[in-house]
Amino acid sequence: MTITQDSSAPLVVVVGVTGNQGGSVVKALSESDKSYRIRGLTRDTTKPTARALAAAGVQLVAVALTSENAAAAREAFKAADIVFVVTNYWEHLDVNREVAEGKMLIDAAKAVGIGLFIWSGLESIINVSHGKYPNVHHFNGKGEITEYGRQSGIPFVNVQSGWYAVNFWKLDGMKPTRVEDGTYVLALPVGPQTLLPVIDTPNDYGLFVREAIESPEFGPGSEVLTSGEDITIGDMISQLAEITGKKIVYARISDGDFMTATGLPHRIALEVLESLKYHEECGYYAGKTTADSRRHLARPTRTWSDFVRSTDWSSVLV
Ligand SMILES: NC(=O)c1ccc[n+]([C@@H]2O[C@H](COP(=O)([O-])OP(=O)(O)OC[C@H]3O[C@@H](n4cnc5c(N)ncnc54)[C@H](OP(=O)(O)O)[C@@H]3O)[C@@H](O)[C@H]2O)c1
Ligand SMILES: *[C@@H]1O[C@H](CO)[C@@H](O)[C@H](O)[C@H]1NC(C)=O
Repeated sequence: MTITQDSSAPLVVVVGVTGNQGGSVVKALSESDKSYRIRGLTRDTTKPTARALAAAGVQLVAVALTSENAAAAREAFKAADIVFVVTNYWEHLDVNREVAEGKMLIDAAKAVGIGLFIWSGLESIINVSHGKYPNVHHFNGKGEITEYGRQSGIPFVNVQSGWYAVNFWKLDGMKPTRVEDGTYVLALPVGPQTLLPVIDTPNDYGLFVREAIESPEFGPGSEVLTSGEDITIGDMISQLAEITGKKIVYARISDGDFMTATGLPHRIALEVLESLKYHEECGYYAGKTTADSRRHLARPTRTWSDFVRSTDWSSVLV
């Protein structure tokens, strides 16, 4: 990785730097032939991921980005040319908190006069589905933050995150389970033709953020839709079976059976259920294509089959 300390290079502040998306942003910018200074924000600069980033030249700053810490957020954004922001719904499952923190970070960036605000948004499913699926809070909240950012007047780009390839490998209720010796089933409440923008997030999400920064086709006011490959669930399963040599079948199950199988509390299971049904009926990106967003990438993205080949499935296909 090459990250500069040279003060003539743009300063990029990365929220969530120890996570999947923020870490990927650092990876992609350090691959660039352009130079960047990077300031990474984490609550814990002593954890191994943070230490590794510091060793690679990222300036680590310890800060908890909560609503009562707005002054610390402004301080952390000070002198930045670009900020990348992601919020983490799954840590607290509180959409009001996610929206408040997202808006606080937009206000902080506005207060320090940021050059470019890059936000990891998602669609407002309640709006796109015209109220049919009201409970997908991790999408709806991010949609609300996007709207606030657009109206705030700051230079704002929405780099929406695709469907993590690891979901089918590590999320309960969404990974293949063994039904009998040598046979596995992936059981979901949608049809196998459901198309998803699947992305190997740590490897490729940041590539799209780099594109938003470096490519003149993007920039303030634009939207980037990330995807390693747009692929149907049925094709994902058949490729997984072929590459691993296992017998894996796809089954469409009822909504109720799916919710029970997730083992999640009712309201979270409902959120996951509605998100899948929305993806089937409306499309993950509300029917928008990812083609334009892929046109100026600095290198190819990993496909689903690339991800399958580079992953050890022994803990899943046991
Ligand atoms: N799974 C999917 O398919 C999918 C698809 C699209 C979008 N998403 C969204 O992705 C988001 C999570 O992103 P991720 O995967 O990059 O998360 P992650 O790997 O779990 O990392 C979360 C990052 O956020 C930081 N963070 C969290 N709360 C913070 C706070 N209060 N102050 C400062 N830093 C904080 C953490 O830093 P420290 O812990 O080091 O402090 C960490 O770096 C979720 O909101 C989810 O909805 C997921
Ligand atoms: C959702 O729709 C309502 C009603 O049209 C609108 O006021 C709101 O701004 C929309 N929200 C988002 C996040 O698009």
